[in-house]
Amino acid sequence: SLQEAVKEIQSSFDVSQEVLQRSVDKFIELAKKGLASNEDKLGMPMLPAYVTQVPSGKEKGTYLAADLGGTNFRVCSVHLKGDNTFNLVQQKSPIPADMMVGTGDQLFAYLASKIRKFLEEHHGDALEAAHETNSRANYLKLGFTFSFPTAQHSLDSGSLVRWTKGFNIPDVVDQDVVQLLQKHLDAGKIPVHVAALANDTVGTLLSRAYSANAIAGGKQGETIIGAIFGTGTNGAYLEKLDNIKKLPEAVVKDLKAKGVTHMVINTEWGSFDNRLEVLPTTKYDRDVDALTANPGIHLFEKRVSGMFMGEILRNILVDFHSRGLVFTQYPNFESLPHRLRTPWDLDSENLSLFEVDDSKDMKPTEVTLLQALRLPTTLEERQAIQALTRAISRRSAYISAVPIAAIIMLTGALEGHHIEVDIGVDGSVVEFYPGYRTMLRDALALTQIGTKGERRTHINIAKDGSGVGAALCASVSI
Ligand code: BG6
Ligand code: GLC
Repeated sequence: SLQEAVKEIQSSFDVSQEVLQRSVDKFIELAKKGLASNEDKLGMPMLPAYVTQVPSGKEKGTYLAADLGGTNFRVCSVHLKGDNTFNLVQQKSPIPADMMVGTGDQLFAYLASKIRKFLEEHHGDALEAAHETNSRANYLKLGFTFSFPTAQHSLDSGSLVRWTKGFNIPDVVDQDVVQLLQKHLDAGKIPVHVAALANDTVGTLLSRAYSANAIAGGKQGETIIGAIFGTGTNGAYLEKLDNIKKLPEAVVKDLKAKGVTHMVINTEWGSFDNRLEVLPTTKYDRDVDALTANPGIHLFEKRVSGMFMGEILRNILVDFHSRGLVFTQYPNFESLPHRLRTPWDLDSENLSLFEVDDSKDMKPTEVTLLQALRLPTTLEERQAIQALTRAISRRSAYISAVPIAAIIMLTGALEGHHIEVDIGVDGSVVEFYPGYRTMLRDALALTQIGTKGERRTHINIAKDGSGVGAALCASVSI
């Protein structure tokens, strides 16, 4: 029966305390491996970000930032006021779907055109001044938030390791994305110098650290992690230089001579446990993975982030239909509403509504399913959909606690009397999904850091984090 099938899903999506703790141990093991070498192509990338400290909040100046890789492409100008606060003006534009799978030239020319448009509207004088003098000295500095794995050898260069989250533009892989953007800015005679490259998690870490004093009304401990739970998921943290064993000796020597002791690491935890040694796995996870452009990779992300939650639900519903458990008015797969048959057409945003619909007849859910999928449902079907949604989101939020607990343990961040730590987060899931942060906290308490550690861990939204973070990166660049 439908109820039994739902129960089965609930138990296969359950995350026990034992699985959580084993996953934390595994994360620490794989993080250490990734810090030691890049050899394991299925391992966690643990990419050095060439950012060597977090800001104090006293940084000042006006910088541009461009942000590619979340729901929208954003161009902003950020005025850092030097007192933990900033002003930000921004323009958002969605990335047309065909640009995500076209050519590098198409994509970067589009980004450059959006940067030009922003300047025309918000920095007209800078455009004119630069054209008159024609000197690079007058160029505006831009921090480029690029939310994909890049191998960096300096703050202002980095080659794309691989695409994730539905982007697939093969000719950009292994190319320096800073150079690509600069090339198209120069071709458009746009007076902007790409001065820094940052992953969105690195930006989030820096921006939360910049703002922490002002926002918390007094510090809730050091900001130790910047994390994204949105279309994708990932985190960055500050690691001791001595622990980043894969950094070339000459680089370490050079940095130490400058007094550097730490470096930010972009973990790319989306790729935690690509060998599936600990993560819960169902038939639906395998089906969803097979539909992606990067099968076998980023398997943690595919159980957690916004791009995948809706798709997991869609796969379960199609399976239930094939077993005659739901939507029996449709005799076969081909006759189902076309959106239910189409991968990625069930947006996770809809799940946030199913999750909390406590009305008696579940009318809001009924309407949403009609609008989003053209799918008429019975009350019993809607109750099942709600139970499935809750199983998917709970698993997502529970395993999201794993990297956070693991990094706290790996860095010893909570060791010491009355120590508290601060974590900056951003992204549509953690910001908008009802109950997500609470579930994540429940799971944190079940990990090795325990209820005591959970209480001393503050998780705060770093609003517009990565734009500000990229500006901060640009501000420390030479
Ligand atoms: C935005 C950041 O706020 O959040 C982006 O500016 C980041 O850099 C994004 O990638 C993540 O959220 P989502 O939900 O848009 O993927
Ligand atoms: C994906 C990307 C990663 C990014 C994350 C969140 O996991 O690989 O670089 O930080 O999404 O946007």
